Amino acid sequence: MPKVTIDGIEIEVPKGTTILQAARMIGPEVAPPTMCYYSKLKTSGGYCRTCIVKVSKGSAQNPNPMPKPVASCRTEVMDGMEVQNITSPEVLEARKGVVEFLLINHPLDCPICDQAGECDLQNLGYEHGAVKTRYEFKRREFEVIDIGKYIKLHMTRCILCYRCVKTCEQITDKRVHGVIHRGDVSEISTYIENAIENDFSGNVIDVCPVGALTDRTFRFKSRVWFTKPVDAHCGCNKCSGKVRLWLKGEEVLRVTARKDQWGEVEEFICNSCRFEKKKKSDWVIEGPSPISHQSVISQNHYNHLNEVKIQVLKQQKALGFAETKGDSVTRK
Ligand code: SF4
Ligand code: FES
Repeated sequence: MPKVTIDGIEIEVPKGTTILQAARMIGPEVAPPTMCYYSKLKTSGGYCRTCIVKVSKGSAQNPNPMPKPVASCRTEVMDGMEVQNITSPEVLEARKGVVEFLLINHPLDCPICDQAGECDLQNLGYEHGAVKTRYEFKRREFEVIDIGKYIKLHMTRCILCYRCVKTCEQITDKRVHGVIHRGDVSEISTYIENAIENDFSGNVIDVCPVGALTDRTFRFKSRVWFTKPVDAHCGCNKCSGKVRLWLKGEEVLRVTARKDQWGEVEEFICNSCRFEKKKKSDWVIEGPSPISHQSVISQNHYNHLNEVKIQVLKQQKALGFAETKGDSVTRK
């Protein structure tokens, strides 16, 4: 089994593993960000360049570095390879350029975008972006259109990651949309007068890393951080029935698939679960969804705040502070 070192951490991985997969095995600290790769979709990756890394040593056999940054989602590990992600200033600088490119045509309409708070591009821009763009030319403009009764397309927000195309190709019976034209006129479109309508089409909303494809049944109902996500299931005969409900009080505002720590859906769900079961009584609620404490969605919600408080109090006790009343502490 080949061994690879990523940001100074060595790991042994099965043959055929990509640098990105190896980095994910080590953990989120060294895993490069991804905007087009999706582990549940075959042949995804290779479009956005966000996952670039520096290969400072090609392999044990050929120790030469690779001449330019490589897309980690598409580059397989070689035995003895050495890779730099967060430890390479050049990679971080180059990634900043990639973000600038992705944002060339993407409008900064986060205040009115349904994806705000759970947008991969928003997070990427925050963590890797530049303060200003150097772009001075006219941006692409498109009308907002409905593609079917459940999905709205804002083409201006699309970053052409192809995830939605691959989702429809791989998990629905009939794909009726794709990327038409090339270069700066490329756009997501349905074949003439077609709508995206089949049992699993709603999954394109979940895989879209930005707010280009949004749920028409949820649009403008609430900012996502004002909702409370809980995991729930039902005895669906089309999909696993394992979903995430986004509640406001007793109301189910939105149903989505559950997502893992990489922001990818765990299991694709059917349209009946997503769009038709909007009552709490349709579901067996399992409990609060695990949400990263760095996410704006976790604001004021769950246990992590209590957990943080418990940890802080423990540390304070260990340091010789004694709890008095409320949250305040004094030195013993
Ligand atoms: S609509 Fe969304 S998922 Fe589809 S290509 Fe554009 S950004 Fe990717
Ligand atoms: S995630 Fe690798 S190129 Fe997009």
